[in-house]
Amino acid sequence: MKIFLDTANISEIRKANDLGILDGVTTNPTLIAKEASHGTFKEIVLEILKTVNGPVSLEVTSLDSSGMVEEALDLAKLGDNVVIKVPLTSEGLKTMKKLKEKGIKTNATLIFTSNQGLLAAKAGASYVSPFVGRLDDISEYGMKIVDDLKTVFNNYNFKTEIIVASVRHPIHVYEASLIGADIVTMPYQVLEKLIMHPKTDEGIERFLEDWKKVKH
Ligand code: E4P
Repeated sequence: MKIFLDTANISEIRKANDLGILDGVTTNPTLIAKEASHGTFKEIVLEILKTVNGPVSLEVTSLDSSGMVEEALDLAKLGDNVVIKVPLTSEGLKTMKKLKEKGIKTNATLIFTSNQGLLAAKAGASYVSPFVGRLDDISEYGMKIVDDLKTVFNNYNFKTEIIVASVRHPIHVYEASLIGADIVTMPYQVLEKLIMHPKTDEGIERFLEDWKKVKH
C-alpha cells in the first residue's frame, strides 16, 4: 500500500521523506491556505514538487470544464509529478476525459459514493479519492465505499487507483490495508500515530535498564 501525506506543509513532507516511506502528496485549497504565510501558491507548490519523489495532487478551483482544463494545463507545467485534482461533478467528469486525452493524470476528488467512483474511472481518472472521514462525520460508514470501489474496479478491470482520503486516525489506515486500497493519504499526525506504541517505548526503557546490569 502506498502512503501519501495529505498536507501542503513542507516540513511535514520532509520529515515523512526522511522516514523513507513517502510515496506521494495530496493537497487541496484548504491545506494550501494553511501555508499562506510561507509564500505564494506557486512557491509553496514548487517546493513540494521538488521535495516529493512521487505524484503530487493539486486541485483546480474553477467550476466549469474549460476553466478547469485551463488551470490544469498551467499546473501541469510546474512539474512531471503533478496530478490534477478535479471534483466529481458533471463539469469535472468532462475535464477528466479531456485531460486523459492530453496525457495529464487526474485525481477525482470529493467522492462520496461508489457510483461517483465508477464514473470517474470511466472518464479516465488515474485516481479516485473517497472521503471516508467526512462520511463517518455524518454517521455513514465511509470505509464501505472503499470496499465497494475495490470490488467494482476488479469487476471491470479498471486501472484507476483508490486513494483513501479524509483519514482521521490509524484505524482508517488499518481498515484500508485489509481491504487492499492502493493508497492512503493521511495527515502527518496520523502517520506519527502509526509508528508509536507505548509498549514499544516501555520495552526499550526496560531493555536499556537491564543492559546497564551486564558487565562489559
Ligand atoms: C483528499 O485528498 C483531501 O485533501 C483530504 O483527505 C480531505 O480531508 P478532510 O476531510 O480531513 O479535510
